[in-house]
Amino acid sequence: MKTYLVTGAAGFIGANFLKYILKLHTDIKVIVLDCLTYAGNLGTIKEDINDSRVIFIKGDIKDNDLVKKIFDDYHIDYVVNFAAESHVDRSIENPQLFLETNILGTQNILENAKKSWMNGQDKNGYPLYREGVKFLQISTDEVYGSLSKDYNEAIDLKLENEDLKNIAKDRKLQTYGETFFTEKTSLDPRSPYSSSKAGSDFVILAYAETYKLPVNITRCSNNYGPYHFPEKLIPLMIKNVLEGKTLPVYGDGKNVRDWLYVEDHCKAIDIVLRNGALGEVYNVGGFNEEQNIEIVKLVIDTIKKLVEENAEYRKVLKTEIENINYDLISYVQDRLGHDRRYAIDPTKIATELGWFPETNFENGIKKTIVWYLENQEWCNEVASGDYQKYYDKMYGENI
Ligand code: NAD
Ligand code: DAU
Repeated sequence: MKTYLVTGAAGFIGANFLKYILKLHTDIKVIVLDCLTYAGNLGTIKEDINDSRVIFIKGDIKDNDLVKKIFDDYHIDYVVNFAAESHVDRSIENPQLFLETNILGTQNILENAKKSWMNGQDKNGYPLYREGVKFLQISTDEVYGSLSKDYNEAIDLKLENEDLKNIAKDRKLQTYGETFFTEKTSLDPRSPYSSSKAGSDFVILAYAETYKLPVNITRCSNNYGPYHFPEKLIPLMIKNVLEGKTLPVYGDGKNVRDWLYVEDHCKAIDIVLRNGALGEVYNVGGFNEEQNIEIVKLVIDTIKKLVEENAEYRKVLKTEIENINYDLISYVQDRLGHDRRYAIDPTKIATELGWFPETNFENGIKKTIVWYLENQEWCNEVASGDYQKYYDKMYGENI
């Protein structure tokens, strides 16, 4: 039986991962550590923490005494570190918090894992560790910086590699550029958020090199799906459309992101945890590039269709159906230092570990919107508290 320490599991991807592994593996124990910032919501995982295999601990990854006690009290085999400040716009407002949580918090877990797992030294003085342990960092494609956008319109993407054909399956692949992020791409972060994530990646690689700590890093593209906090593009647009509110699109709306359904990211994490070669970095993404403005239009169109077809969903609307149209879109001031394009090359994880995404974008976005329509209680809960204050400060009270 494996015992996991999963940090940040009350947030978007961590919660989805917790649900995913509880369904997939019967013989596991999971210690959840989360300090419940604005982005963490215990309601998201209330059923999961009632599961006899799960123990929830409210606390900070920077708290040395607490993290040490967790390693003393439980026989941790795997650490999966999701805990982070994750929103780029907030990092522009408060960079220090991002450096503290994302770099120092990560280093605190690494150090405690090293001390707890060490069971000797080799003849050169390198630590030796208990068999089967691993630290997995959930990093991001943003550490690689920004790619050039070479085409105004998306072009078809043809894959040469046979092993990559599963990535495509039933989907038409497209791209806006000639280049992609591979694991060999130099790190070139450009926001306080991405620099803090790159900082933590460097610290982890340093622990792997200097102390031979067994680690992996995954670097994934933009996730979407259930339990996504409505400060990020897709859930914010869903929330605003349902309320008939303006949809703020930064700059010219033509920045490109590479979208992956969250459960496909969870699948990749589980595969890397169990089968990833020690010390390796794996990029995760499904060749699903799109411009922000197209995403926003797709959200509008999909919601409109769903509410037209289903009377129950119409009850969720705080506006008339006629108001659900592209007039809701408003181009607003661009994000400072806004990265133009992200695009992941997942060849390594696909060919070495056999990972491929299960959910195409059309189905994923529909599933996601249906989830929001059917889980308004969750949406209202997370949007209480400081959410409105954040929203007014970020977008201005009139938008
Ligand atoms: P999120 O903001 O939704 O959740 C973060 C969680 O971490 C919250 O539950 C929060 O309470 C917790 N947390 C924050 N600071 C903490 C601290 N000091 N101690 C303990 N818990 C703390 O984030 P997310 O979108 O789920 O992202 C999870 C991880 O995945 C992050 O590390 C992020 O960098 C990475 N990532 C995210 C995406 C994406 O598209 N969302 C893509 C690639 C990688
Ligand atoms: O690429 C992975 C990263 O994706 C993760 O590491 C981050 O944690 C996650 O937040 C996400 O970062 P982005 O900045 O790409 O995501 P966000 O949803 O904030 O923005 C997506 C795009 O939409 C980006 O180009 C900015 C734009 N945008 C965003 C918001 C919130 C808008 O145009 N309007 C908005 O209101």
